[in-house]
Amino acid sequence: MRRSIVIAIVLIILVLAWLWIAPPRFWLNLTKRVEVSPEVGAQLVVQYNCRRCHRIQGEGALKGPELDGILQRTDPMVVRLWLHNPRAIKGNTPMPNFHLSDTEIEAIMAYLETLQ
Ligand code: HEC
Repeated sequence: MRRSIVIAIVLIILVLAWLWIAPPRFWLNLTKRVEVSPEVGAQLVVQYNCRRCHRIQGEGALKGPELDGILQRTDPMVVRLWLHNPRAIKGNTPMPNFHLSDTEIEAIMAYLETLQ
């Protein structure tokens, strides 16, 4: 009896650790659903502090490439992949994986579209 409670608690902790450390897509889409619009994208860029590394509209650091006009120079699917999982494109990139949901990615894409 006591043993099964301990096993249940360990399992719950393992599931929570999984959702926390390596959240699967369905979970991100369930918990981080946003409206897809350039305004929301701009808010997300502030929330995730992309300007810590990227210059956008003249503001921010230049540890990464400037993001103005990014969708004029880079294929949108490649930009999506950067947002989805930076290490999938470049193994040693300093850009963190923000575990963005699909709608968060599309909102940021809509914002990037407005940057000439
Ligand atoms: C810790 C620094 C850092 C942060 C924070 C960061 N990035 Fe990056 N990002 C980089 C670096 C560096 C690169 C260039 C790839 C490389 O050299 O590793 C990059 C590449 C990119 C690219 C591809 C650019 C190209 O020219 O192909 C996009 C798009 C991008 N980042 C968007 C974002 C967005 C949006 C955010 C915020 C959600 C963000 N980044 C946050 C460091 C960062």
